[in-house]
Amino acid sequence: MPMELDAFVRGLPKAELHVHIEGTLEPELMFTLAERNGVELAYASVAEVQAAYEFTDLQSFLDIYYQGAAVLITEQDFADLMTAYLERAHTDGVRHAEIFFDPQTHLERGIGFPIFMDGFAAAQRGAEDRLGITSSLILCFLRHLPVDSALETLEAARPYLDRVVGVGLDSSEVGYPPEGFAAAYEAARDLGLRAVAHAGEEGPPAYVWEALDVLRVERIDHGVRVEEDDELVERLIDGSTPLTVCPLSNVKLRVFDTLADHNLKRLLDRGVKVTINSDDPAYFGGYIADNYLAVAEALALSREDLVRLARNSFEATFLPNGRREELLAALDEFVG
Ligand code: ADE
Ligand code: ZN
Repeated sequence: MPMELDAFVRGLPKAELHVHIEGTLEPELMFTLAERNGVELAYASVAEVQAAYEFTDLQSFLDIYYQGAAVLITEQDFADLMTAYLERAHTDGVRHAEIFFDPQTHLERGIGFPIFMDGFAAAQRGAEDRLGITSSLILCFLRHLPVDSALETLEAARPYLDRVVGVGLDSSEVGYPPEGFAAAYEAARDLGLRAVAHAGEEGPPAYVWEALDVLRVERIDHGVRVEEDDELVERLIDGSTPLTVCPLSNVKLRVFDTLADHNLKRLLDRGVKVTINSDDPAYFGGYIADNYLAVAEALALSREDLVRLARNSFEATFLPNGRREELLAALDEFVG
């Protein structure tokens, strides 16, 4: 008898390439940390928090998401957050994660690099030792802040860059085109960092072109609006440029009305290197396996499609070849 879909998806070895660590803050942990740190929350209960997670667009989510991060104060808080995510990801078959963090959100609250970086590192080491899950960090610049702030952030990060694999660009997209961050990406490249950027989530295909041509990114985060531009789709296919797609996020933030309307399967069938990811799972109602399962059902994905998506996820990592080959071999062994 074939394995049930749920067991198949959770067992499928995969990488997660688009998850914001601040977006993994579950309401229960938010309350625990608020109490531990004496931080006043705008909500009286977990149920009230959950009721507030009704979004109309990206900005309506970001307003709430930045408020939530205010409970993260100590090194232990950041370690607890990271441990909870890595343990959860492990149960979903994630073997490797490349995890976004937003230093500016913490720096502007007076929380410095040593606090969050040391908390993350302790949790990452612990999860690797106990569970075998590997992970690395991608430092995101907030695009609603000026490029000078991004450059200052990169400078402050310098003592920690051996723990960072690359830079990214997130927050409010429309009105904040990628080309404004050219100087920060050039500085990051000079420091040996890899590059990705959110583009084509709410913003137009032109932003994806800019991310590719001006920022010289190697992956596009979201990128679902590329379908409006055939030449751009061809460019992604020719360059094997991955898209880190987040289906449940796209529905929660009204990029698509329903999952059945999502273009993931069409892009995959055209030969785009699509991957499935969770974005901000504590806010969008599902971790990575929930995302695989929901699209498998809504778009009638075959097991071959699911294996292709998992294979894409490993091929799209910034891992050195040895570890990537090891993970691809684990996938081949699972598929049999
Ligand atoms: N920060 C956290 N999640 C985000 C998203 N989906 N788009 C842009 N910035 C984000
Ligand atoms: Zn994102």
